[in-house]
Formats: sequence, C-alpha cells, structure tokens
Amino acid sequence: MLHKKMLGALNEQINKEMYSAYLYMAMSSHSANMGLKGFANWFMVQYHEEMYHAMKLYEYVQRQGEEVVLDTLQAPPTDFESPLDMFKQTLTHERYITSSINELMELAISKKDHATQIFLEWYVTEQVEEEENDNDIIAQLKLIGDNPHALLMLDRELAQRAATVPTDFSKGVESAASA
Ligand SMILES: [Fe+2]
Ligand SMILES: [Fe+2]
Repeated sequence: MLHKKMLGALNEQINKEMYSAYLYMAMSSHSANMGLKGFANWFMVQYHEEMYHAMKLYEYVQRQGEEVVLDTLQAPPTDFESPLDMFKQTLTHERYITSSINELMELAISKKDHATQIFLEWYVTEQVEEEENDNDIIAQLKLIGDNPHALLMLDRELAQRAATVPTDFSKGVESAASA
C-alpha cells in the first residue's frame, strides 16, 4: 500500500516521463527536418526509453493495487536553434528529472516506504547515465563547432543507436526488464 502523497508524486512522475518522451519526439522531428537522420534516430530511441520509464512507474503503481491517474501533457517547445541547443535543452530537462527523482526518494524515506525506495534506486542510477550521455554529446558538439563535415560524422554515429528497452508494453515491463 502506498501513502497518499507517495501515490500522487508517483503519478506526477509518470506525467514527467511522458512529457520527456514528447519532448524527444519533437526533437526527433526537428532533427529529421534539418536533414540529420542520425540525430532523429537518437531522439526517437530516447523517446522509447522515456515511454519505458513511464511504464515502469505505471506498473509499479498498479502492482501496489493503486490507481494510475493520468494528467494533461504540456506541449513541448518547437524552437530549436541547433543540435547543440537541443542537447543543452535535453541536459537541462534531465537535470530537472533527476531532482524530481531525488524528491521522490526523499519522500519514500520520510514515509519509511522501503519498497518504493528500492524501486526508485533504478531511476537514480538511470539518471546518472542520462546526464552522462547528454554531457558526452554536448562536448562533441562543442568540438564540432561550425564544421558541417564533423557534424555529419556524428550524425552517422548517432544513427547506430538502437533501443535497449522493451517497446511492446502489452505484457507489462517488469518481466522483460528483469530478463
Ligand atoms: Fe526518464
Ligand atoms: Fe537511459
């Protein structure tokens, strides 16, 4: 059983992860329109990751016998100056998600909710990886500067990224994730 405040905060986190998916979907479309299909691929893979983050929370709330309450999704921005700008916005957003996860963890600790603490540990680790990925690509984009040849080389590299999370949620995500 979840504390009422904990349940509300977990439901809010579902919305935040869904918004993340929406944001990266917008960046994927913008990248494709710029002719950067590798960047478009990277952001679409990230979209899948975010949907997975949302689904893991969804499943956890359900397994606790509680109701998932979905809220309105905010529209993502449409203005992106450059690939570097997109990754800077991505990092800023992921730092916000990290602080949100930390707040969830602090709430779980204050409510002596051990199950939710253990559940959230996965997200704490995942956020380190997310910020690291964004920092790596930002560093590369800064080195690239205004060099279109180098940008296309990075685009080709980002085209190689493939989804490592399950993308079919019909049977749930828990069994797939622990495999
Ligand atoms: Fe996420
Ligand atoms: Fe990730």
